[in-house]
Amino acid sequence: MKTVGIGILGLGTIGGELVQIILKNQPRIREFYGIDLQIRGIFVRDVTKKRAIDTTGLPLTDNAESIIEDENVQLIMECMGGSGTEHTYPLIKRAIELKKNVVMSSKKVLALHGQELLELSRKNKSVLCYDATVGGGIPIEKVVENSFYYQEIRKIYGILNGTSNFICSNMFLKHKSFKQALKEAQKLGYAENDPSDDIDSYDALYKAEILALMCMERIFDLNAVKPRTIRGISNFDFEMLEEEGYTIKPLVSLEIKGEDLYYIIGPAVVSIEDNVVSGVDANNNIIAVIGSKSGELSFSGQGAGKSPTASVMFDDLLNTLLYRNNFILYNGVKPFREIIEDNTALYLHLKVNDKPGVIADIAGLLSHMGINIDKFITRGKTNGLYDAFVFISNENNIDRDALVKGLKKQHVRILSLIPIVYEEEI
Ligand SMILES: NC(=O)c1ccc[n+]([C@@H]2O[C@H](COP(=O)([O-])OP(=O)(O)OC[C@H]3O[C@@H](n4cnc5c(N)ncnc54)[C@H](OP(=O)(O)O)[C@@H]3O)[C@@H](O)[C@H]2O)c1
Repeated sequence: MKTVGIGILGLGTIGGELVQIILKNQPRIREFYGIDLQIRGIFVRDVTKKRAIDTTGLPLTDNAESIIEDENVQLIMECMGGSGTEHTYPLIKRAIELKKNVVMSSKKVLALHGQELLELSRKNKSVLCYDATVGGGIPIEKVVENSFYYQEIRKIYGILNGTSNFICSNMFLKHKSFKQALKEAQKLGYAENDPSDDIDSYDALYKAEILALMCMERIFDLNAVKPRTIRGISNFDFEMLEEEGYTIKPLVSLEIKGEDLYYIIGPAVVSIEDNVVSGVDANNNIIAVIGSKSGELSFSGQGAGKSPTASVMFDDLLNTLLYRNNFILYNGVKPFREIIEDNTALYLHLKVNDKPGVIADIAGLLSHMGINIDKFITRGKTNGLYDAFVFISNENNIDRDALVKGLKKQHVRILSLIPIVYEEEI
């Protein structure tokens, strides 16, 4: 019988569930694989706190270093909370330096330090698994690492943030206002008290960085990317877009063209029919990868939640012990040449003055910028103002800043400016 000492960092939502899964499966793992899993230490901030699980007999400690340095711990399971980022990174680094295998859940730590940690684990011949960091219960890391040996992935897209998707779905399907939908997400535990990271797409940005690393063996400078927020999208946008056969989804799209990365991170206008993202509602996620040989493969499901996430981590734990102990698949990463926000087609919701020549002026500006107007719709005159909805496209990227500046100069108020992803592009 082989004994494997496990150290767990964090005993909150995910850590609590993970401990229960480990304890429940201990006898089976002994019987089937001859491995005795022993939890040797669980790090928490407050050992006296009342917890959702029964902690009788569990080795709780507020000294994380004692777990990392314990020579009888071979495997570290990291389930620390978001605010633990600064604390988590040095612990993971030290564990890898000590040649321990690590299973991670913190997307922010991996997005900020993934390249360094993966290189360190390769150097130390330890295994670093991180399936829980993207897509919660969707085992995307296992699929990509085990199924794309002889092909390239040049495009990835999908919905990576359940909170934003829940809000957009509720605005579209149930006609809730942004505020109502957010409140409901908070009530159901899908959104935090401060939901900024989710609705301003920083959570999606971290996951996009991890997907680029995992699927494309590339990294990008997080500061070079502008994640867009879903704040400011109105029911009027959804109503108008539905009439035209579109909706809005919180999209992540990463595509390599030449050596450059073209990206969308934030809300995108997509057709209601004919694509895989528009049917993914509530707090679900979807990840689609386009392999050079396989074509498009997509995976959807629970992007968060204690059971899906902890069970993906437990699978990582077993994979680490059973299959991946002596080799590492990571081949190194390189940066993209340029990072470009994909702006080839845009949807605009404008407030314009009801005066002769105003629409002609807007059309003139777009024509001057070489932009095609695909559709121009005006609605609802109140207090001398129209709502105008404009669908525009271009072969090359539209200069958003110049467009915004030009419209402002014409005293046009921009209520929404959202990229459109036509079905043939996804
Ligand atoms: N929740 C999900 O659905 C989900 C899905 C995918 C990935 N994840 C990732 O899983 C990790 C854990 O999430 P969670 O929802 O389980 O978090 P959580 O409920 O807040 O639990 C965090 C745990 O880490 C401990 N901790 C130790 N040092 C900490 C520090 N400096 N700051 C914050 N916590 C610290 C906390 O100790 P105390 O209990 O003593 O406070 C707590 O036990 C996060 O990295 C998250 O991004 C979560």
